[in-house]
Amino acid sequence: MRRPPTFLALVLVGLLTACGGGEDAAPRTTPENGVRLGFSQVGAESAWRLANTQSIEHAATNAGVRLDLRVADGKQENQTAAIRDFISQKVDIIAFSPVVESGWDKVLQEAKDADIPVIVTDRMVDTTDTSLFTTMLGSDFTAEGRKAGEWLVEHYRDFNGAVRIAEIAGTTGSAPANQRRAGFADAIKDDPDLQVIVSRDGGFTRAGGEQVMAGFLQQHPDIDVVFAHNDDEGLGAVKAIEAVGKRPGQDIKIITVDASRDGLTALAEGRLNYVIECNPLLGPQLMELVGKVTTGQTIPRRVVVDETAFDREAAKAVLPNRQY
Ligand code: AHR
Repeated sequence: MRRPPTFLALVLVGLLTACGGGEDAAPRTTPENGVRLGFSQVGAESAWRLANTQSIEHAATNAGVRLDLRVADGKQENQTAAIRDFISQKVDIIAFSPVVESGWDKVLQEAKDADIPVIVTDRMVDTTDTSLFTTMLGSDFTAEGRKAGEWLVEHYRDFNGAVRIAEIAGTTGSAPANQRRAGFADAIKDDPDLQVIVSRDGGFTRAGGEQVMAGFLQQHPDIDVVFAHNDDEGLGAVKAIEAVGKRPGQDIKIITVDASRDGLTALAEGRLNYVIECNPLLGPQLMELVGKVTTGQTIPRRVVVDETAFDREAAKAVLPNRQY
């Protein structure tokens, strides 16, 4: 692996200089000689995504990493082009959050051929060649979906009769949509009363969630529960439910994923019922991995983020200090 001006060495040099190591003792860490990280972000579709981008930008600045951030507007071709550009710029390391799971082998092979390590973050890629990336940092989306299903099983334990569930899914083909759906389905599979009667892609956006939910309500006015793959979609569904004169959180129960400030506020107000956490503040952990990879240190193949879930009382308790 190529050895760029090492992250750790540069941090140490910075510390030495700060401690009076002297002007001539060693070069300072400057924006010119820090590790160069090319990062391809999915887009700006949700509160989660904005918080994730901000976390990465702040952490890069704090670590003295020279970040080249490209935002792909939800398009795989834009991400592929950005990664190719990073390769031609000969950055020291690439990280990206893949919009969809499949179709990355070719461009990742190009990065490997150029001897540039790649960190996959947030969303996993679907590949049989695990040598194409060094590590994956992100949430366990299957566990998130499972938590949503388990709440439902628990909540409707004593309910008699069918529970009609509408699923507002995330972007088709994306890891969080695939894995949250799978975890949820697995958790409810032994309870025949819990029936997913309709499922559609809401694109992880508020507008998408509202539009999809409005369509659902026209076809199925008797929906009991919504499982939205993120807060933004769930908050869009709240609007659509209110628009037909029903009470979100009461007439129709809503479960979402992310636990953004807006999501938790709606939960505290009783318009959502259960929110599973998906933490976007990955910047510091990503920079730590960047530092280790670029200095040849051993890192785990998978770094999973610690997460929880919130009911109404728990939401009220954490809201005053919620960062995103
Ligand atoms: O990949 C993480 C998911 O993508 C978040 O749940 C969602 O809000 C985002 O857009």
